[in-house]
Amino acid sequence: MIGKKVLDALNRQINREIYSAYFYLGMAAYADSIGMKGIASWFRMQWKEELFHADKMFNYINDRGNRVMLGAIEEPPQDFSSVRDLFERTYEHEKKVTKLIHNLVDLAKSEKDTESESFLQWFVNEQREEEATPRGILERVKKSEKDVKAMSQIDGELAKRK
Ligand code: FEO
Repeated sequence: MIGKKVLDALNRQINREIYSAYFYLGMAAYADSIGMKGIASWFRMQWKEELFHADKMFNYINDRGNRVMLGAIEEPPQDFSSVRDLFERTYEHEKKVTKLIHNLVDLAKSEKDTESESFLQWFVNEQREEEATPRGILERVKKSEKDVKAMSQIDGELAKRK
């Protein structure tokens, strides 16, 4: 079984992953509202990916013989101003999530919970991509945001995310 400190931290992280999903679903709604269907679809995929992260932690807690405890999910921001704003906030958010994951790894190490430390390595690797992808899109959006044709091309490309 997982010790209390690590268990509480994993339960909190499930909450943060579900919050992340909710955060991105709000972004999908905004993108839809400004006619960026491909970007909306990209954020809908991101919402599903965050739910997958939460589910992975949920299963891990169950597999170790502990019980998941769910907390309230905070309301996400809704006051977006542009596509650039969406990706700036996404990139900043993922940097915060990376810190949370690294803190969890440090806690598992200090609690000598080798199994949790090993489980969390998947998230350490995942966060590299979680930061790199929005950072890459943000760079493109910054260069193209005043060019309707280029933005429409980005929207079309992001629609292809599976
Ligand atoms: Fe679950 Fe986007 O990190």
